[in-house]
Amino acid sequence: MKTQIFLTVNGEQHELWVRNDRTLLDALHDDIGLPDVRYGCGEGVCGTCTVLADNEPINACLTFAVQAQDVAIQTLSGLTNASEELHPLQKCFLEHGAAQCGFCTPGMVLTSKVLAQRNPSATRQEIRYELVGNLCRCTGYTKIVDAVEEYFGQVREQASTGGGDR
Ligand code: FES
Ligand code: FES
Repeated sequence: MKTQIFLTVNGEQHELWVRNDRTLLDALHDDIGLPDVRYGCGEGVCGTCTVLADNEPINACLTFAVQAQDVAIQTLSGLTNASEELHPLQKCFLEHGAAQCGFCTPGMVLTSKVLAQRNPSATRQEIRYELVGNLCRCTGYTKIVDAVEEYFGQVREQASTGGGDR
C-alpha cells in the first residue's frame, strides 16, 4: 500500500506516492531524481546520504520518507544560487583539492555548513569531531578540514564586516 506525501526539497514541493517503509534517501535519489543525494552504507554509518531537515543534518537512509513531511529538506544542489554559482564552501573544497571521487562531499559540505552557522570559531579538532559521522575513503581528511577551516575564516570575516552567510 502506498501513501501520498508532499516533500519540500530545496524550496520546491514534490508530490510522491510511497510505501511507508520507503527511505527518504530512495525518495530523494530515485523518485525525485537528485544524484547529489548518495547511497553509501544504507545503515547510518558513513554519512554519505546526509541532507538537512530544517537545517539539521540527518541520515536520509535512516529516515522514512513519510517522516520528512512538514520539514524543509535541503540537499547539496540546494546550495547553488539562481545563477548556479557554487556555494563559497564548495569553492573552498575545490581550491583545497578536498574532493577526490567526491562521493562523500555532499555530506561533508552540508554538515560543515551547519557547523559554520553554529560555531564558526570551531577549532580544527572540533571540526574533526563534528565530521566524525562523515567518512571519506579518499582524502585522508586533511584537505577536507583545511577547506572547512578556510570557509570558517570567511564566515568570521563576513560577520565582522556585517556581511551575511549564503
Ligand atoms: S548511506 Fe546513510 S549513513 Fe551511509
Ligand atoms: S572524496 Fe572519495 S570518499 Fe571522500
